[in-house]
Amino acid sequence: MSGKQAKLTVGDQSIDLPVYSGTLGPDVIDVKDVLAKGFFTYDPGFMATASCESKITFIDGDKGILLHRGYPIEQLATQSTYEEVCYLLLNGELPNQAQMDDFRSRVKSHTMVHEQLQFFYRGFRRDAHPMAVMCGVVGALSAFYHDSLDIRNPEHRQISAIRLIAKMPTIAAMCFKYSVGQPFIYPKNELDYSSNFLRMMFATPCDDYEVNPILARAMDRIFILHADHEQNASTSTVRMAGSTDANPFACIAAGIAALWGPSHGGANEAVLRMLSEIGSVKNVDDFVRRVKDKSDGTKLMGFGHRVYKNFDPRAKVMKQTCDEVLSALGIQDPQLELAMKLEEIALNDEYFVSRKLYPNVDFYSGIILKAIGIPLNLFTVIFALGRTPGWIAHWQEMIANPYKIARPRQLYTGAVQRDYVGLQQR
Ligand code: CMC
Repeated sequence: MSGKQAKLTVGDQSIDLPVYSGTLGPDVIDVKDVLAKGFFTYDPGFMATASCESKITFIDGDKGILLHRGYPIEQLATQSTYEEVCYLLLNGELPNQAQMDDFRSRVKSHTMVHEQLQFFYRGFRRDAHPMAVMCGVVGALSAFYHDSLDIRNPEHRQISAIRLIAKMPTIAAMCFKYSVGQPFIYPKNELDYSSNFLRMMFATPCDDYEVNPILARAMDRIFILHADHEQNASTSTVRMAGSTDANPFACIAAGIAALWGPSHGGANEAVLRMLSEIGSVKNVDDFVRRVKDKSDGTKLMGFGHRVYKNFDPRAKVMKQTCDEVLSALGIQDPQLELAMKLEEIALNDEYFVSRKLYPNVDFYSGIILKAIGIPLNLFTVIFALGRTPGWIAHWQEMIANPYKIARPRQLYTGAVQRDYVGLQQR
């Protein structure tokens, strides 16, 4: 409680509403009591609605701050590892060495997928979008791990969490291998998480793959930068599915489906498609003109965010990583030059300035992924892989605490009750 009270007046009725304070962020008005007075609240797109209480991630969109369990994303991205961030998100604290070793070894013991799972891949067309494949395969995990599906059992929840974190790189790499017609590559547990993923992506049975530590570090950083982002669309989807007591694999599959859209995780793929469409710096002005013309329906992909009305802090680290990776690899990517020109114009243009539209995490990630050799249609799969610990942490947090099935109300504007008329009378 904040000690404050809100008062809502509707006609001649007055409703007292409690106000809660978190540790950070705006106070929250508890609107539950309006139901007893015969009202619903209305907030399409959940613009101002806190759907739950959470201790995992905090964002201050005006200041461009992102904290996981209190730690700034910039520090985690530059000083930590993805596995450590997974532990932090799931457990609330950074691990000591023994805890880290134990977590790593548990993850490693679950990196393989059931051999039977490969037949699921074979049911898909080779040219299927990898997100379609990933969605199906992750949902199918619930048909394989019956021994850990009791959501009321904390040990089952733990094993499912570890299984998901361990198997996502294997599943993602298998999506790629299937699409190019190469044999699946088994995980190699002596490697760290990101190196293992890169090897499963790029090794073949004929040629092993020497992991470039620069690329492995960049991959790890990309995973960290995607690891969680509080109650975004896909995480809220995971929570919503979880609130029905669905199993964790089904919930994460629901999250993957929600992530796929170009307004959310699909934006990283859309950014590179946009850069290819623009083609060269000389076309940037014309493209920006189209974006500003609402009738054209073109968006500047990788720009704007529901919460950030300032620089997305993840975009800053992403840009820095992009520079480091390209210079370490000696790559001069004209698309980076194009992206920088686009950013420069947008940041000075009244349309974007007045709407507080800044580059988001997806603006530069595609250029790094391309430099690593990740194909365009796998970009959103990488986002899903990185976001998995966040989804699971939120699902765990919800299941371990009292919750209710998520069941929003509506403002009904359809037909009022009327009588059915037989076909011959219509
Ligand atoms: N290009 C052009 N105009 C934009 C853009 C954009 N990328 N984003 C927002 N606007 C305009 C929008 O048309 C609206 O203008 P007006 O007030 O004149 O109607 C105004 O800015 C406010 O935008 P909104 O659509 O009401 O904002 P929202 O919070 O509902 O949408 C968003 C947020 C991320 C869906 C949107 O900014 C967008 O579609 N961006 C491009 C896609 C993208 O990069 N998505 C990745 C988000 S970060 C990764 C993740 O966490 O998912």
